[in-house]
Amino acid sequence: MNTTFTRKLALVAAAASLLAVVGCRQDMHDQPKFIPQRGTEFFADHRSARPQVENTIARGQLKEDSYFYTGTVIAANGYKEERNELPFPATVAVLERGQERFNIYCTPCHSRVGNGLGAIVQRGYKQAANLQDQVRRAQPLSHYFYVMSHGYGAMPDYSSQLTPEDRWAVAAYIRALQLSQDATAADVPTGTKPQSLTNLAAAKGLPSSFAGPWDIPNTAVQAYPANKNEGTPGMAPAYPVDPKVFIPNQAAPAKSGTAKPAEAPKAGN
Ligand code: HEC
Repeated sequence: MNTTFTRKLALVAAAASLLAVVGCRQDMHDQPKFIPQRGTEFFADHRSARPQVENTIARGQLKEDSYFYTGTVIAANGYKEERNELPFPATVAVLERGQERFNIYCTPCHSRVGNGLGAIVQRGYKQAANLQDQVRRAQPLSHYFYVMSHGYGAMPDYSSQLTPEDRWAVAAYIRALQLSQDATAADVPTGTKPQSLTNLAAAKGLPSSFAGPWDIPNTAVQAYPANKNEGTPGMAPAYPVDPKVFIPNQAAPAKSGTAKPAEAPKAGN
């Protein structure tokens, strides 16, 4: 009798604990909640996702200064327009920050002087824009911001690496870089004697070519595939004025008549 009683007790206890466990789990499973994109009978419009409350902005999402965030303003004709303006004063601290960010994120392709022949280009990436040429010098400051925010042709965008403030700082630094490569003796403060880079290079024992412009070395990997149909979509010039990329050691294109000359693959192929 004793054993039967113990057995019964054990059974009841087991059933009770099982019930408790099951009940507990069911509670957690069936708690009232909305599943994304699923409708509901609770609201009159049957949408579980509620519209945002009018005239309110979520914390951290107030972007009142649209030029600061987009680099464009809406012109009188309704189109977006770039401006040659920095949305905040260009202090030395801003330029130093811009220089630091440029050297981290842009020099791999554009090089430290911005001529578009950075180390990655020397290994076969599409030649980056020469920030020193007439086309890029003439571009308004906010164009650089726009390119960093959205990318451009083969260039990826840098909006996740650089905050809007940093992008403006880099844009300001590009202007400083352009000045640095195009300065005249008149830009030097009076009383300071300008020194030639060639002499400075010689004094430091650097090769005589140090002060001159440089080209892609012959060791660079060829940018285009031998068969253009194999495709490197980013390799076509995004800007029509861009010269076709010069490829050292490339076999001369076949004479017309025998075969079609090799063409750069079009973007989007
Ligand atoms: C991975 C290589 C790469 C990096 C890194 C890179 N660029 Fe570029 N950039 C390019 C290439 C390639 C082009 C030319 C685009 C084309 O023709 O497809 C270009 C073009 C540009 C242009 C010219 C746009 C125009 O309208 O002509 C600007 C300005 C520019 N880059 C700025 C920057 C800045 C600023 C950074 C750093 C935040 C940067 N790039 C980082 C590869 C790069």
